[in-house]
Amino acid sequence: MKPSFLPLSTLCAFSLCLLAACGGSSSSPARNAGPPAEPVALCDGEAIAPERLFLQQLGSDRVIIKWRNAPLDVAQSGDVVCFGVDHNALPASSQTVAVVTETRHREALITGLKPDTKYYYSVGGAASTDPRFSFRTAPLTGAVPADGNTRIWIVGDPGTSSSPLLDRGDNAGGQRAVRDGFNAWVAANGGEAADLFLMLGDNAYLDGTDAQFQTAVFDLYTDTLATTGMWSTIGNHEMGSGGLSTAASVDLYSPATGIADTVPDSPMPYLNIHSFPTQGENGGVPSGTEQYYSFDYGNVHVISLDSQVSTRDAANMAAMREWVTADLQANVADWTIVIFHHPPYTKGSHDSDSTAGGVDQPIFDMREQFNPVFEAYGVDLVYGGHSHSYERSFYLSGHTGLSTTFDPEEHAELNSANQPATGQGDEAYRQITNSGADDKVVYTVAGNSGQATGMSDPEGHPAFFYSTGDILGSVVVDAGKNTLVARFIDDSGEVRDHFIMQR
Ligand SMILES: [Fe+2]
Ligand SMILES: [Fe+2]
Repeated sequence: MKPSFLPLSTLCAFSLCLLAACGGSSSSPARNAGPPAEPVALCDGEAIAPERLFLQQLGSDRVIIKWRNAPLDVAQSGDVVCFGVDHNALPASSQTVAVVTETRHREALITGLKPDTKYYYSVGGAASTDPRFSFRTAPLTGAVPADGNTRIWIVGDPGTSSSPLLDRGDNAGGQRAVRDGFNAWVAANGGEAADLFLMLGDNAYLDGTDAQFQTAVFDLYTDTLATTGMWSTIGNHEMGSGGLSTAASVDLYSPATGIADTVPDSPMPYLNIHSFPTQGENGGVPSGTEQYYSFDYGNVHVISLDSQVSTRDAANMAAMREWVTADLQANVADWTIVIFHHPPYTKGSHDSDSTAGGVDQPIFDMREQFNPVFEAYGVDLVYGGHSHSYERSFYLSGHTGLSTTFDPEEHAELNSANQPATGQGDEAYRQITNSGADDKVVYTVAGNSGQATGMSDPEGHPAFFYSTGDILGSVVVDAGKNTLVARFIDDSGEVRDHFIMQR
């Protein structure tokens, strides 16, 4: 294909355009008197339609565009992307060559982007692209996005589409229905797209094989993944073994269904598929591992912990605890959110009073070893899944025992009637609590984004304000400058629970 050209003047809006080349304001006499503008070369590749396409490490100045084409064993052409702010004029200077990984994923790292700016991209490197291939960079760290709000969409245990045995009965098409319910709510409430897409693990049943990720993640959230940075945490089903692995190393990944990936990358598909930050690429203290990490997005700091693998070895768990403590000590974000798979409190399909023969030992480890750290260093929200329920706590601190030891007066923020405050209306939570410190956390189980499998105790956990094991849904968090609202949205787009937090 022949290169195409546009006059330089049409490209002056393009953010990568050097000021010197574009001149000053359009009324500048020097510019009017200058030589005729030289054309800027546009990209001349051919767009390709990958089988999977997603964005990693999307920050204020960087993104990794990652994709893969079928079939795996055929060498691919067009391992480049082009990008720009005008979807019809992607300049040749933006062309970026992708790295090809052992599992034939393509990773194109783009740096030097402008904050809070919309960019369009073409996989394959064409001069123009469909506007749906676009993303908005994060605002500068600490700043609120131009629309006043960081919107975060959270799905837990979503991956039932890849396991027909789970996507059954009342839950037939459950994962798709939850996705469509969220989109319907967005469309009916102003249309603001999500800035972050967080996945709480058990993303691809039954074993988190590469093929199961294709069905349950890439084929399901295709539109979201093309436009929104995606982040995740490791669930038990990401480690294979039908979800029953108690292995302390990702090298022991072993699927009961499907096939493992091959070394020299990792046998664990989750790690091969994702490109999470290990060196603080998106802010936060470097963790040195993709198994747990943190990042900043404008006014929000997000921490993803590994409750499935790293907790199974005392030294690894201590290292993760030391890292998250250091990360929180350095954190100054307006809002801090922690995600990990095994919820510290639940009476859903798992019971936080039982280790289930060791398989659910991480529930106890996270509650006893990590909750005190969250409460000591200003974490606001904790999200987990594992139980296929939605359960949302009061505003808690200091509760590390069994559910029978929960004492509202000791462990929950109280309202004027000495009852646990609801987080709603005039009982909205404040970061600085009645104690005078930023010492309380709202814990939410949101593992019902693909199936809803009932409660182990119909009464629910006493530390929770709202519990359901029968309703499918997902969570959306809106983090503004001074107010955060978290909503549970069911599969028909109705809000079933919410709470408000004030700074
Ligand atoms: Fe699950
Ligand atoms: Fe799970």
